[in-house]
Amino acid sequence: MSDVILQTWDGHAVPIHALTEAETKVVLAGDAFAAALAATAEFKGRVGQLLLIPNSDGALDRVLFGAGDAQHPVAFRTLPGKLPAGVYRIAAQPDGVTADQISLYFALGSYRFDRYKTHDGERARLVAPDADVTEILQITHACALARDMINTPANDMGPLQIETIAREIAEQHGARITVIQGDGLLEGNYPAVHAVGRAADPARASRMIEISWGEADKPMVCLVGKGVVFDTGGLDIKPSAGMRNMKKDMGGAAHALALGRMIMSAKLPVRLSILVPVVENAISGDAMRPGDILASRKGVSIEVGNTDAEGRLILADALTRACELDPALTIDMATLTGAARVALGPQLPPYFTDDEGLASQIEAAARAEWDPLWRLPLWKAYGEALDSDIADIRNDPDGWAQAGAVTAALFLQRFAPKGPWVHLDIFAWNPRARPGWPAGGEAQAIRGLYRMIRERFA
Ligand code: BES
Ligand code: MN
Ligand code: ZN
Repeated sequence: MSDVILQTWDGHAVPIHALTEAETKVVLAGDAFAAALAATAEFKGRVGQLLLIPNSDGALDRVLFGAGDAQHPVAFRTLPGKLPAGVYRIAAQPDGVTADQISLYFALGSYRFDRYKTHDGERARLVAPDADVTEILQITHACALARDMINTPANDMGPLQIETIAREIAEQHGARITVIQGDGLLEGNYPAVHAVGRAADPARASRMIEISWGEADKPMVCLVGKGVVFDTGGLDIKPSAGMRNMKKDMGGAAHALALGRMIMSAKLPVRLSILVPVVENAISGDAMRPGDILASRKGVSIEVGNTDAEGRLILADALTRACELDPALTIDMATLTGAARVALGPQLPPYFTDDEGLASQIEAAARAEWDPLWRLPLWKAYGEALDSDIADIRNDPDGWAQAGAVTAALFLQRFAPKGPWVHLDIFAWNPRARPGWPAGGEAQAIRGLYRMIRERFA
């Protein structure tokens, strides 16, 4: 796919006048032809409305776009899908909306997953001479990478493919990478990762991927991502509707790799560790069983009450590994619970932290980036729902606590570093298309987190 944002362009670019409703009235008052077209098309400059205005030859002369105001820069996500293919420039924009915002949201809104489409149509492109195109493309490419990984079905996005992507990212940025695979996970002391993934076909053996980057004197940021390439539920098998989209269960890994790539591309003054446990939660004679008790890297014994609560098992070992790196900040991302979606729906990933300063930084950065999330509590008292009769902890919380996203976060907290830590229970998916948000894989929260990290370690 060629880039949809261009810093320069020698040829003709169709002007787009991005207008508020008030500005639309002014413009139409001075342009009888446009006013007549607007009247028949009921174009009033409402957010997301588009009016194509031809010249006397019938070719596209200019475009009016209802852009709202500075409170709605994200409306530009809806623009590329409404434009005919061609090259455009912004000739007018509402006060307060920046060229960077327009280009960023235009690029995010242009995303399509076309890997399996035989015919990929031309698309609208935007010339943005005043925007920081390099930075915007780094961010939007990272988001597109995460979305492509999530959208790619499990037959083409297995452990090997994720390892290959991780190796490419590491190589591009001069980072070190280690991959521990299959039975090597026992030797390397990742027993829970091994147990969850051991039922998979040997060609799809589990991996513990670790990317390390940056100079020794910089503060360490750890990114941890759940990489379940497909979640059948294991022996506590998922019903068909619940299994249907489980190719996306590696969304946390995709998010961690994408956010890590943003950080390395921008050469932020941090040290980075990206920790990605990759498994297939499959069924075979060797599958872990309900009732099995697993060892973990931390030495905490875990009773597997339900093999479908597999994400927290592999994250337990990965978070223990994070503790060993003495991080200044740890972020984990995971498609961890259906309960998170029941609580907040697909558009609003919950985040959990006990660090008030970190929470307010995340909140502010997420708002500035139009990358929404919502805080849920690490409610201590529900921790008792994780008590096991015969092991140190169980992975399926007792039903009385009900709040499944909270108890999952509390499970992770038992393994997470004691310093600043935040857990995000992402959905990573648009269940239906809306303008600017195609159905399927979505990158959630990583633009906001990237801004937060940039500001926190400036
Ligand atoms: N990957 C799922 C969670 C999930 C399901 C995310 C649907 C997004 C949409 C996870 O591994 C899982 O199955 N969790 C169980 C945990 C339960 C068995 C304690 C769940 O949420 O039902
Ligand atoms: Mn599961
Ligand atoms: Zn899962």
